[in-house]
Amino acid sequence: MGNITYKAQEYSDSKQLPFRIEVEKYTLFSLFPDVTGRKVIDVGCGEGIYSRALVDLGAVHVIGVDGAADFIELARKKNVGYEGKIEYHYKLIQDFQGQGDRDLAVGSYVLSNPINLEEAVAYCKSINACLREGGRFVGFNNNPFEVFDGVRYAEYSFQKEMHGDTEGGEVIYRVLGMSNPIINFYLKPQTYEKAFREAGFSGFSWRRISLNPTNEQGEAYWRNLFANEPPFIAMLAEK
Ligand SMILES: C[S@@+](CC[C@H](N)C(=O)[O-])C[C@H]1O[C@@H](n2cnc3c(N)ncnc32)[C@H](O)[C@@H]1O
Repeated sequence: MGNITYKAQEYSDSKQLPFRIEVEKYTLFSLFPDVTGRKVIDVGCGEGIYSRALVDLGAVHVIGVDGAADFIELARKKNVGYEGKIEYHYKLIQDFQGQGDRDLAVGSYVLSNPINLEEAVAYCKSINACLREGGRFVGFNNNPFEVFDGVRYAEYSFQKEMHGDTEGGEVIYRVLGMSNPIINFYLKPQTYEKAFREAGFSGFSWRRISLNPTNEQGEAYWRNLFANEPPFIAMLAEK
């Protein structure tokens, strides 16, 4: 994991932007299985937005793991009302000792951080160790099928910059209201597929992101985001 230089509070505030609510949250929620009574791990949980959402959806216990101190600090501050239901760990996922008891692992933007196959395998192995047999992973990520040279999506309150499909090349997100960019690393689709396989997952598939049909902005606003390969993609895997 490279050093996270963006600020937790600014990142948290960006969760109010339309692409986060109508695409990111909508896609994730549509892919979560029924979590009623289930145990979940939120990998790279950040300030815990989806950890709390999973409890709200009925999960009985959520572990949130994140390697950035200010994100975990903010997550713990926001844990009022969730005590005993969410426990946060300030740790790199590669160093977290999973107990094989989780029904679901959620990874929102966490797999945009490994810089090569070896790191991706290490992330995936740790996620795998958290899951019971038959447990599932639901991820949301930079879309590795979208390759370009330049900057896109400024009309959606974020800019995505990339320069081709070199493995480990930077994919930079500048999000409205955030003073520092989010720096991710490009890995090819086959690299992710291999990483999940090597980590012991039996099934892996990509899912196109989806738009909340009742979004406030209207279809025309979103056309460019969905015109070709969208900037983000979801991933499903099964242990
Ligand atoms: C863009 S944020 C997303 C946070 C949260 N999942 C969300 O959707 O709001 C990515 C998070 O992954 C965390 N992260 C990246 N690599 C990690 C690793 N190896 N171990 C633990 N956390 C990691 C970062 O610290 C950061 O908080």
